[in-house]
Amino acid sequence: MPHYCTLIPGDGIGPEVAQAAVRAVDATGIDICWRRAELNEAIILEAGKTLPKYLLDSLNETRVGLKGPVTTPVAGGFQSVNVQLRKTLDLFANVRPVKSLPGIKTRFADLTIDMVIFRENTEDLYSGLEQEVVKDVVTGLKVITRAASERIARYAFQYAAKNGRKQVAAIHKANIMKLADGLFLRCCREVSEQFTHIKYKELIVDNASMQLVVRPETFDVLLLPNLYGDIISDLAAGLVGGLGIVPGANMGENHAVFEAVHGSAPDIAGQNKANPTAMMLSAVMMLAHFGEADASYRLQAAIESVYREGKHVTGDVGGAATTEEFTDAVVRNLKS
Ligand code: NAI
Repeated sequence: MPHYCTLIPGDGIGPEVAQAAVRAVDATGIDICWRRAELNEAIILEAGKTLPKYLLDSLNETRVGLKGPVTTPVAGGFQSVNVQLRKTLDLFANVRPVKSLPGIKTRFADLTIDMVIFRENTEDLYSGLEQEVVKDVVTGLKVITRAASERIARYAFQYAAKNGRKQVAAIHKANIMKLADGLFLRCCREVSEQFTHIKYKELIVDNASMQLVVRPETFDVLLLPNLYGDIISDLAAGLVGGLGIVPGANMGENHAVFEAVHGSAPDIAGQNKANPTAMMLSAVMMLAHFGEADASYRLQAAIESVYREGKHVTGDVGGAATTEEFTDAVVRNLKS
């Protein structure tokens, strides 16, 4: 029986890295029935600000998606389709493993960085509730609920327990947002009491940013509300070599959509330059979700082996290979 996956290439570099990931997954020999669903700025504009029906129908059928990035207009235009998708399917947990890869020369190359970010994915300042109260005075609503905070905290602690992780750090700004972040933090604390074998600590987001740069190797599981999770994800990506290599998963009760941390990178789109590693590693997570542990492991190992060898890596991580050359190398490793 094949596994079914809605493939959403997205726009910008999305179609290039999605194509690379499909080639790599297919090379594992696992039978995936890909249902392609286009999603880009033009389609959203035509659909009139809501997600196209064919996309939701497909995701409701397959329950699993592999998604490329989609461009969102800045300061105006439609609401981010990513935010819409996460809310519509209630993909409440954004899981982002940030791990050093062999051979990438970063300032932190001597350290082993291996952390997993759990970002609440449905509320906070991403509520989209903004208004101009009077001319030139705008307010935006930061929504934090007990239900969503407990849910992400439980998810992070359960993951930590299952995967032998030693420590969860809740990251907040409750010294200033005493009610909103205060509630988030209270929920994290309460959930932590049910997992006494896992060390629990709390860090204010500004201090956490500094600690991440100074001693990134001391972080294990990070638990954050939506906005801080978004920002800290990019910071953490920078520690291990950039956005080209950090994967992610949006997990709900009934659906899972796997996608890289990076955006549509319009500056390099269509140039065969994009690093498809983040998308391929998202597919590694997808294979594990399908229960294909062996294929997931083999794909991860094939990618790591290309990095170890260092001959076919892309420009963002210091190499000169094209998207296609990197993909060819991964496929060769899988088949050898
Ligand atoms: P970005 O992540 O697209 O690019 C930031 C920088 O990283 C650029 O210099 C880009 O060339 C580089 N980069 C990103 N991915 C790369 C890759 N795979 N290989 C090599 N270099 C890579 O962030 P930016 O420029 O802020 O956003 C561009 C668009 O993407 C915006 O419309 C934004 O809303 C959207 N976006 C979409 C996301 C999604 O669909 N999940 C997530 C983040 C942003």
